Order: sequence, then structure tokens, then C-alpha cells
Amino acid sequence: MFSKIITMEQHILEQERVYPEATGTFTNLLYDIALAAKIISREIRRAGLGNILGEAGTVNVQGEEQMRLDVFANETFIRMNSYTGRVGVMATEELESIVSIVPDNPAMAGGKYVLIFDPVDGSSNIAANVSVGTIFSIYRRKSPLGAPGTVEDCLQPGRDMAAAGYVLYGSSTMLVYTAGNGVHGFTLEPSLGEFLLSHPAICMPALPRYSSANVSYERLWSPGAQRFHRYLQGMESEKPVVGLSARYVGSLVADFHRNLLNGGIFYYPSSYANPVNPRAKLRLLYEAAPLGYIAHHAGGYASDGTRSILDIVPTELHQRTALFIGDRGLVQKAEGYIHDLG
Ligand code: AHG
Ligand code: MN
Ligand code: MN
Repeated sequence: MFSKIITMEQHILEQERVYPEATGTFTNLLYDIALAAKIISREIRRAGLGNILGEAGTVNVQGEEQMRLDVFANETFIRMNSYTGRVGVMATEELESIVSIVPDNPAMAGGKYVLIFDPVDGSSNIAANVSVGTIFSIYRRKSPLGAPGTVEDCLQPGRDMAAAGYVLYGSSTMLVYTAGNGVHGFTLEPSLGEFLLSHPAICMPALPRYSSANVSYERLWSPGAQRFHRYLQGMESEKPVVGLSARYVGSLVADFHRNLLNGGIFYYPSSYANPVNPRAKLRLLYEAAPLGYIAHHAGGYASDGTRSILDIVPTELHQRTALFIGDRGLVQKAEGYIHDLG
């Protein structure tokens, strides 16, 4: 599978050589994330054994195991990044407020990076042994160094991201990331415990193959989103999209990853059940922006239907957004329908 074995460590060091001014902090932050990912991966691989190996009464309540993994992954990410001096503030899908870094040792306080993550994406799939993932993004802080970071540090538009990535706990564990210089994928070699470069310089294929949406909500979408959906099915009068096949895992990372490698579009429009107050599901900071940044650097595009996801300036940590992501031409097509029909 691998012609020349390159570990993630070697790859990142190589990339960093391009920037002589780099201090290594960013590289080390990526290692911290990779280590957290390995720990979470190990736990997820063992998840189904809870009922067999767990002590009586501790894991036999339905749903508890999946909740435990959300909490475990969240705590692992926080623990791995709290005492390194690299991160000044974190925001996670699992906590209402930011995680300010105030370690006992003041020298460790006030790292220069902001770390934002969805520790387990697709967690409703865990109990059914379906792939889940972790999504992360890294920003440079805005507030002065040397003190804990602030909410404002976390509320930056996707365009200002320093890096984004995800880990997919699928048939193998993969880490995919971009620091703005190509999208690179690594596969965890379990016996070595190393992420090895398996997918260098990922580009979205020119021809999309898959469309991914939870179509059971179609009746609640806006007219533009509905028409776009019909267009993908070849039900509009103009020339239909040929050869698109439907695939929907229900774990955004898994759906996105498949479409990144094979070509396609994922869309989760807002629900207009209450037309005055449309509701979106996916989270801007933890899901849409990081994957949007990756899509952008792989030649794809992400939009909320009216503008690039990367242009949205967040006003709240847990802000939600409609999301159309993947093949650039198809996402723009969606924008066209929404522009014309709403
Ligand atoms: P999370 O598990 O982090 O809450 O995210 C779930 C998200 C995303 O992974 C997925 O694409 C979407 O919810 C699925 O929603 P539906 O069940 O409504 O299709
Ligand atoms: Mn999620
Ligand atoms: Mn989650």
C-alpha cells in the first residue's frame, strides 16, 4: 500500500521546513492532536466490548456507552492540550462555555493557538458500530499572549484558520489535515501506533459521484433547496447530473470523507417547519467551518446556500448553519437555486 513509508511526524517536519520562522509549536500541537486521536481510536475500537468485559452494572444501560465515548473523547482532547503551553483556549461541542487554559504553572498559560473540536461526530452511530470521527480546527489567538484566551478568540471566521483536520474511526483510523498547503491523509498503522502518509495531496475528483443528504426532511427545506435536490435526481428539465448515487452514513465526517475521495456533495439544508424561524442542525465552529476549510484546500467548496462558510463571522460558540459541501460546481448550483427561489 505504501511505496515509501513516511510518518506523520516526518511529513509535518518536512512541511515546516518551508517556513524557517516556525518555532515548532504548531507541529507539536498537531502531534498532541494525533496522540489524542490514537487514545480515542483505541477506546472506540474497544467500545463494543463494554458489555462483555465491563463490570456488571457499569455499562449495561442502553445509550450509556455512547455517552461515555462523547465524554471520554472530550476529556481526552482537553487533557492532552491543557498543559502544553501551546493552546490558550479551547471550545468544544460538548461544553457550553470555552475551556480557558489556566494551569498551575503560569509559564504554561496563554498558549498562542485556539483549538476547536467536535470530539465525536456521528455519536448516534456508535452503538451500531458505524464509523464516527473527530473534527478539529486551529486558529491563532487574537487576545494578548500570556493570559487565558477568550470567547472572541474562538469566534473567528473560517478564512482565518491556521489548520483544520478530522480523524475518521472507520475500517481503519485515518487523520486528514490541511494547514493551507494541500490536504494530506494518514492511516494509523495499529501495530506501530503511527499515522503513515497514505493519501498525499488529496484533490476532489472533477466528476462528482455521490449525493448525501437526509432526504426524510425534504418537505421542510426551502423551495430552492428542494429544487436543487430535484435537480440532483435528474428531475429538472435542464440537463440532469449524470451518474450521481445516493450515500448517507449520518456521520458527517464519514460522508464528507467519502465524497472528498470519490467526489460528491453533502447537504444539510435548514428546516423551514417554522418559516419565521428556520432551524439548521450542523454547527458552524465544530463541523461546517473546519470541513469547509478542508474542502476549499482540496478544490471543493462549502456554502450555507448564500455565501462561503469560510466568510461567516461567528457570533456564538454553538451557532448552527445550513451546509452544502463538496464538489464546487454542485455547491454553486445549490447557491443558484437558493438565490432564485429562497
Ligand atoms: P454529532 O454526533 O457531533 O452530534 O453530529 C451529528 C451530525 C452529523 O454527524 C450528521 O451528519 C448529522 O448530525 C446527522 O443528522 P440526522 O440524523 O438529522 O441526519
Ligand atoms: Mn458532529
Ligand atoms: Mn459530537
